[in-house]
Amino acid sequence: MKDYKATIVSNEKIAENIYAITFDLGEQAEVRCGQFGNISVGGTHLLRRPIAICKADGTQVTFCYQIKGEGTQKLKTMGAGTSLNVLMPLGNGFFVEENEKKIALVGGGVGVFPLISVLRQYYGEKIISAYIGYRNKDAVCGVDEFTKATRFVGVTDDGSYGEKMNAVQAFEADLAKGNRPDVVLACGPTPMLRALKTVVEKENLPCYVSLEERMGCGIGACLVCVCDLTNGQHARVCKDGPVFNAKDVEV
Ligand SMILES: Cc1cc2nc3c(=O)[nH]c(=O)nc-3n(C[C@H](O)[C@H](O)[C@H](O)COP(=O)(O)OP(=O)(O)OC[C@H]3O[C@@H](n4cnc5c(N)ncnc54)[C@H](O)[C@@H]3O)c2cc1C
Ligand code: FES
Repeated sequence: MKDYKATIVSNEKIAENIYAITFDLGEQAEVRCGQFGNISVGGTHLLRRPIAICKADGTQVTFCYQIKGEGTQKLKTMGAGTSLNVLMPLGNGFFVEENEKKIALVGGGVGVFPLISVLRQYYGEKIISAYIGYRNKDAVCGVDEFTKATRFVGVTDDGSYGEKMNAVQAFEADLAKGNRPDVVLACGPTPMLRALKTVVEKENLPCYVSLEERMGCGIGACLVCVCDLTNGQHARVCKDGPVFNAKDVEV
Protein backbone atom coordinates (compact mmCIF):
# COMPACT_ATOMS: atom_id res chain seq x y z
CA MET A 1 0.00 0.00 0.00
CA LYS A 2 1.32 3.42 -0.94
CA ASP A 3 0.06 6.99 -1.07
CA TYR A 4 0.55 7.71 -4.76
CA LYS A 5 0.70 11.18 -6.22
CA ALA A 6 -1.44 10.10 -9.13
CA THR A 7 -1.98 12.10 -12.31
CA ILE A 8 -5.38 12.06 -13.99
CA VAL A 9 -5.19 10.68 -17.53
CA SER A 10 -8.92 10.92 -18.28
CA ASN A 11 -12.17 11.54 -16.41
CA GLU A 12 -15.24 10.84 -18.50
CA LYS A 13 -18.95 10.22 -18.14
CA ILE A 14 -19.80 6.57 -18.90
CA ALA A 15 -23.49 6.48 -17.88
CA GLU A 16 -26.07 8.69 -16.19
CA ASN A 17 -24.34 10.17 -13.14
CA ILE A 18 -21.37 7.78 -13.46
CA TYR A 19 -17.80 8.67 -14.40
CA ALA A 20 -14.63 6.67 -15.06
CA ILE A 21 -11.41 8.26 -13.90
CA THR A 22 -8.02 6.87 -14.95
CA PHE A 23 -4.85 7.80 -13.10
CA ASP A 24 -1.22 7.23 -13.95
CA LEU A 25 0.58 6.18 -10.78
CA GLY A 26 4.07 6.59 -12.27
CA GLU A 27 4.82 2.96 -11.39
CA GLN A 28 3.04 -0.39 -11.47
CA ALA A 29 0.99 -1.36 -8.40
CA GLU A 30 0.23 -4.95 -7.30
CA VAL A 31 -3.58 -5.02 -7.16
CA ARG A 32 -6.00 -7.85 -6.33
CA CYS A 33 -9.54 -7.81 -7.61
CA GLY A 34 -11.94 -6.27 -5.07
CA GLN A 35 -9.35 -3.97 -3.49
CA PHE A 36 -9.97 -0.25 -3.32
CA GLY A 37 -8.26 3.12 -3.22
CA ASN A 38 -8.84 6.05 -0.87
CA ILE A 39 -8.83 9.15 -3.04
CA SER A 40 -8.12 12.61 -1.71
CA VAL A 41 -10.25 15.15 -3.54
CA GLY A 42 -8.29 17.98 -1.93
CA GLY A 43 -9.48 21.32 -0.60
CA THR A 44 -11.57 21.30 2.59
CA HIS A 45 -12.55 17.65 2.03
CA LEU A 46 -10.39 16.15 4.74
CA LEU A 47 -11.77 12.63 4.46
CA ARG A 48 -10.76 10.67 1.44
CA ARG A 49 -13.33 8.88 -0.70
CA PRO A 50 -13.07 5.08 -0.87
CA ILE A 51 -13.63 3.78 -4.43
CA ALA A 52 -13.15 0.25 -5.78
CA ILE A 53 -10.31 -0.32 -8.22
CA CYS A 54 -12.06 -1.27 -11.42
CA LYS A 55 -9.03 -1.84 -13.67
CA ALA A 56 -5.29 -1.88 -13.12
CA ASP A 57 -3.22 -1.91 -16.28
CA GLY A 58 0.51 -1.28 -16.07
CA THR A 59 1.01 2.05 -14.33
CA GLN A 60 -2.63 3.07 -14.89
CA VAL A 61 -5.64 2.44 -12.64
CA THR A 62 -9.29 3.17 -13.34
CA PHE A 63 -12.02 3.86 -10.79
CA CYS A 64 -15.69 4.33 -11.70
CA TYR A 65 -17.72 6.57 -9.44
CA GLN A 66 -21.28 7.67 -9.07
CA ILE A 67 -21.91 11.34 -8.31
CA LYS A 68 -23.30 11.36 -4.82
CA GLY A 69 -22.28 14.36 -2.70
CA GLU A 70 -19.67 17.08 -2.51
CA GLY A 71 -16.59 14.89 -2.92
CA THR A 72 -17.65 13.10 -6.08
CA GLN A 73 -19.09 16.37 -7.50
CA LYS A 74 -15.65 17.89 -7.08
CA LEU A 75 -13.91 14.86 -8.57
CA LYS A 76 -16.09 15.17 -11.67
CA THR A 77 -14.67 18.63 -12.44
CA MET A 78 -11.04 17.49 -12.44
CA GLY A 79 -9.32 17.14 -15.77
CA ALA A 80 -6.32 15.37 -17.28
CA GLY A 81 -3.01 16.47 -15.80
CA THR A 82 -4.40 17.15 -12.30
CA SER A 83 -2.59 15.27 -9.50
CA LEU A 84 -4.39 13.74 -6.52
CA ASN A 85 -3.25 11.57 -3.63
CA VAL A 86 -4.52 8.01 -3.95
CA LEU A 87 -3.81 5.56 -1.11
CA MET A 88 -3.94 2.05 -2.56
CA PRO A 89 -4.39 -0.86 -2.84
CA LEU A 90 -6.49 -1.24 0.32
CA GLY A 91 -8.55 -4.10 1.75
CA ASN A 92 -8.36 -7.84 1.23
CA GLY A 93 -10.09 -8.28 -2.15
CA PHE A 94 -11.77 -11.39 -3.57
CA PHE A 95 -9.98 -14.76 -3.57
CA VAL A 96 -11.18 -17.73 -5.59
CA GLU A 97 -9.94 -21.21 -4.65
CA GLU A 98 -8.23 -23.39 -7.25
CA ASN A 99 -11.09 -25.93 -7.14
CA GLU A 100 -13.76 -23.25 -7.60
CA LYS A 101 -14.02 -23.35 -11.37
CA LYS A 102 -17.44 -21.74 -11.85
CA ILE A 103 -17.94 -18.24 -10.48
CA ALA A 104 -21.21 -16.31 -10.32
CA LEU A 105 -20.89 -12.53 -10.05
CA VAL A 106 -23.96 -10.81 -8.62
CA GLY A 107 -23.87 -7.02 -8.60
CA GLY A 108 -25.96 -3.92 -8.55
CA GLY A 109 -25.49 -0.15 -8.35
CA VAL A 110 -21.88 0.92 -7.78
CA GLY A 111 -21.19 -2.69 -6.77
CA VAL A 112 -20.72 -3.56 -10.42
CA PHE A 113 -17.28 -1.90 -10.52
CA PRO A 114 -15.30 -4.21 -8.21
CA LEU A 115 -16.89 -7.14 -10.06
CA ILE A 116 -15.32 -5.88 -13.30
CA SER A 117 -11.94 -6.30 -11.57
CA VAL A 118 -12.85 -9.93 -10.73
CA LEU A 119 -13.80 -10.60 -14.32
CA ARG A 120 -10.54 -9.10 -15.54
CA GLN A 121 -8.49 -11.17 -13.06
CA TYR A 122 -10.16 -14.54 -13.74
CA TYR A 123 -11.07 -14.10 -17.42
CA GLY A 124 -10.03 -17.20 -19.41
CA GLU A 125 -9.24 -19.15 -16.21
CA LYS A 126 -12.72 -19.65 -14.72
CA ILE A 127 -16.22 -20.09 -16.08
CA ILE A 128 -17.87 -16.81 -15.12
CA SER A 129 -21.56 -15.94 -15.11
CA ALA A 130 -22.37 -12.29 -14.38
CA TYR A 131 -25.80 -11.21 -13.12
CA ILE A 132 -25.81 -7.44 -13.11
CA GLY A 133 -28.71 -5.20 -12.10
CA TYR A 134 -29.08 -1.55 -13.09
CA ARG A 135 -31.71 1.03 -12.19
CA ASN A 136 -32.63 1.69 -15.82
CA LYS A 137 -31.05 1.75 -19.29
CA ASP A 138 -29.34 5.11 -18.66
CA ALA A 139 -27.42 3.59 -15.75
CA VAL A 140 -26.12 0.67 -17.81
CA CYS A 141 -22.30 0.57 -17.91
CA GLY A 142 -19.45 -1.91 -18.01
CA VAL A 143 -21.24 -4.03 -20.63
CA ASP A 144 -18.11 -4.12 -22.85
CA GLU A 145 -16.41 -5.87 -19.89
CA PHE A 146 -19.28 -8.09 -18.69
CA THR A 147 -19.97 -9.48 -22.18
CA LYS A 148 -16.51 -11.11 -21.95
CA ALA A 149 -17.94 -13.37 -19.22
CA THR A 150 -19.04 -16.87 -20.22
CA ARG A 151 -22.60 -15.74 -19.53
CA PHE A 152 -23.85 -12.19 -18.93
CA VAL A 153 -27.38 -11.39 -17.76
CA GLY A 154 -28.01 -7.65 -17.49
CA VAL A 155 -31.36 -6.61 -16.01
CA THR A 156 -33.04 -3.37 -14.91
CA ASP A 157 -35.55 -2.35 -12.25
CA ASP A 158 -37.89 -0.94 -14.92
CA GLY A 159 -37.24 -3.38 -17.79
CA SER A 160 -35.76 -0.66 -20.03
CA TYR A 161 -32.66 -2.86 -20.57
CA GLY A 162 -32.83 -6.66 -20.27
CA GLU A 163 -35.61 -8.19 -18.22
CA LYS A 164 -37.46 -6.33 -15.49
CA MET A 165 -35.96 -7.90 -12.38
CA ASN A 166 -33.04 -7.48 -10.02
CA ALA A 167 -29.65 -9.22 -10.12
CA VAL A 168 -30.57 -11.73 -7.39
CA GLN A 169 -33.74 -12.76 -9.24
CA ALA A 170 -31.68 -13.19 -12.44
CA PHE A 171 -29.22 -15.37 -10.53
CA GLU A 172 -32.04 -17.43 -9.00
CA ALA A 173 -33.67 -17.93 -12.40
CA ASP A 174 -30.41 -19.41 -13.72
CA LEU A 175 -30.00 -21.58 -10.61
CA ALA A 176 -33.47 -23.00 -11.26
CA LYS A 177 -32.28 -23.96 -14.77
CA GLY A 178 -29.38 -25.90 -13.24
CA ASN A 179 -26.61 -23.31 -13.82
CA ARG A 180 -25.00 -23.77 -10.40
CA PRO A 181 -21.69 -22.02 -9.60
CA ASP A 182 -18.99 -23.25 -7.21
CA VAL A 183 -18.82 -19.83 -5.56
CA VAL A 184 -20.78 -16.57 -5.61
CA LEU A 185 -19.04 -13.17 -5.42
CA ALA A 186 -21.23 -10.14 -4.85
CA CYS A 187 -21.25 -6.41 -4.33
CA GLY A 188 -24.19 -4.05 -4.26
CA PRO A 189 -26.78 -2.32 -2.10
CA THR A 190 -27.51 -3.88 1.31
CA PRO A 191 -31.06 -5.09 0.39
CA MET A 192 -29.54 -6.90 -2.60
CA LEU A 193 -26.89 -8.57 -0.43
CA ARG A 194 -29.53 -9.53 2.14
CA ALA A 195 -31.72 -11.17 -0.53
CA LEU A 196 -28.68 -12.95 -1.96
CA LYS A 197 -27.67 -14.24 1.46
CA THR A 198 -31.08 -15.89 1.86
CA VAL A 199 -30.72 -17.60 -1.54
CA VAL A 200 -27.14 -18.88 -0.99
CA GLU A 201 -28.01 -20.16 2.49
CA LYS A 202 -30.99 -22.08 1.08
CA GLU A 203 -28.83 -23.45 -1.77
CA ASN A 204 -25.82 -24.10 0.48
CA LEU A 205 -23.50 -22.16 -1.84
CA PRO A 206 -20.27 -20.46 -0.71
CA CYS A 207 -20.63 -16.71 -1.10
CA TYR A 208 -18.36 -13.71 -0.52
CA VAL A 209 -19.75 -10.18 -0.33
CA SER A 210 -17.96 -6.86 -0.59
CA LEU A 211 -19.39 -4.32 1.88
CA GLU A 212 -19.61 -0.55 1.71
CA GLU A 213 -19.27 1.50 4.87
CA ARG A 214 -18.44 5.11 5.58
CA MET A 215 -14.70 5.30 6.08
CA GLY A 216 -12.08 7.51 7.65
CA CYS A 217 -8.48 6.35 7.47
CA GLY A 218 -9.07 3.32 5.21
CA ILE A 219 -6.18 1.46 6.90
CA GLY A 220 -7.69 0.01 10.07
CA ALA A 221 -6.82 2.76 12.56
CA CYS A 222 -9.95 4.86 13.23
CA LEU A 223 -12.75 2.23 13.59
CA VAL A 224 -15.23 4.40 11.62
CA CYS A 225 -16.01 1.50 9.29
CA VAL A 226 -16.83 -1.24 11.81
CA CYS A 227 -19.47 -3.80 10.82
CA ASP A 228 -21.23 -6.53 12.82
CA LEU A 229 -20.25 -10.16 12.52
CA THR A 230 -22.71 -13.01 13.01
CA ASN A 231 -20.70 -14.28 16.00
CA GLY A 232 -21.42 -11.03 17.88
CA GLN A 233 -17.97 -9.59 17.22
CA HIS A 234 -17.04 -6.69 14.96
CA ALA A 235 -14.72 -6.17 12.00
CA ARG A 236 -13.21 -3.24 10.15
CA VAL A 237 -14.55 -3.13 6.61
CA CYS A 238 -11.43 -1.28 5.33
CA LYS A 239 -8.85 -3.69 6.72
CA ASP A 240 -10.57 -7.01 7.55
CA GLY A 241 -12.75 -6.58 4.43
CA PRO A 242 -14.28 -5.16 2.37
CA VAL A 243 -14.81 -8.77 1.26
CA PHE A 244 -16.33 -11.15 3.84
CA ASN A 245 -17.71 -14.65 3.78
CA ALA A 246 -21.47 -13.96 3.63
CA LYS A 247 -22.14 -16.34 6.52
CA ASP A 248 -19.80 -14.37 8.80
CA VAL A 249 -21.33 -10.86 8.44
CA GLU A 250 -24.65 -9.24 9.22
CA VAL A 251 -25.98 -7.52 6.11
C1 LIG B 1 -14.78 -0.20 -0.13
C2 LIG B 1 -15.68 0.79 -0.85
C3 LIG B 1 -15.70 0.78 -2.24
C4 LIG B 1 -16.51 1.70 -2.92
N1 LIG B 1 -16.49 1.67 -4.28
C5 LIG B 1 -17.24 2.54 -4.97
C6 LIG B 1 -17.18 2.56 -6.40
O1 LIG B 1 -16.49 1.75 -7.04
N2 LIG B 1 -17.92 3.50 -7.05
C7 LIG B 1 -18.71 4.40 -6.36
O2 LIG B 1 -19.38 5.21 -7.00
N3 LIG B 1 -18.78 4.40 -5.01
C8 LIG B 1 -18.06 3.51 -4.30
N4 LIG B 1 -18.11 3.53 -2.93
C9 LIG B 1 -18.96 4.54 -2.28
C10 LIG B 1 -18.22 5.88 -2.25
O3 LIG B 1 -17.17 5.82 -1.31
C11 LIG B 1 -19.17 7.02 -1.85
O4 LIG B 1 -20.22 7.13 -2.79
C12 LIG B 1 -18.41 8.35 -1.82
O5 LIG B 1 -17.46 8.33 -0.78
C13 LIG B 1 -19.38 9.51 -1.63
O6 LIG B 1 -18.63 10.69 -1.45
P1 LIG B 1 -19.29 12.13 -1.64
O7 LIG B 1 -18.35 13.09 -1.06
O8 LIG B 1 -19.68 12.32 -3.07
O9 LIG B 1 -20.64 12.00 -0.83
P2 LIG B 1 -21.04 12.60 0.58
O10 LIG B 1 -22.34 11.96 0.93
O11 LIG B 1 -20.94 14.10 0.55
O12 LIG B 1 -19.93 12.04 1.53
C14 LIG B 1 -19.76 12.46 2.83
C15 LIG B 1 -18.86 11.45 3.52
O13 LIG B 1 -19.50 10.20 3.62
C16 LIG B 1 -18.75 9.19 2.98
N5 LIG B 1 -19.69 8.34 2.23
C17 LIG B 1 -20.85 8.71 1.67
N6 LIG B 1 -21.47 7.65 1.11
C18 LIG B 1 -20.66 6.59 1.30
C19 LIG B 1 -20.73 5.22 0.95
N7 LIG B 1 -21.77 4.71 0.30
N8 LIG B 1 -19.71 4.41 1.31
C20 LIG B 1 -18.66 4.91 1.97
N9 LIG B 1 -18.54 6.19 2.35
C21 LIG B 1 -19.52 7.02 2.01
C22 LIG B 1 -17.79 9.93 2.04
O14 LIG B 1 -16.58 9.19 1.81
C23 LIG B 1 -17.54 11.19 2.82
O15 LIG B 1 -16.55 10.98 3.78
C24 LIG B 1 -17.33 2.62 -2.21
C25 LIG B 1 -17.31 2.61 -0.82
C26 LIG B 1 -16.50 1.71 -0.14
C27 LIG B 1 -16.46 1.71 1.34
S1 FES C 1 -11.77 3.50 7.96
FE1 FES C 1 -10.51 3.74 9.68
S2 FES C 1 -10.61 1.73 10.56
FE2 FES C 1 -11.66 1.50 8.69
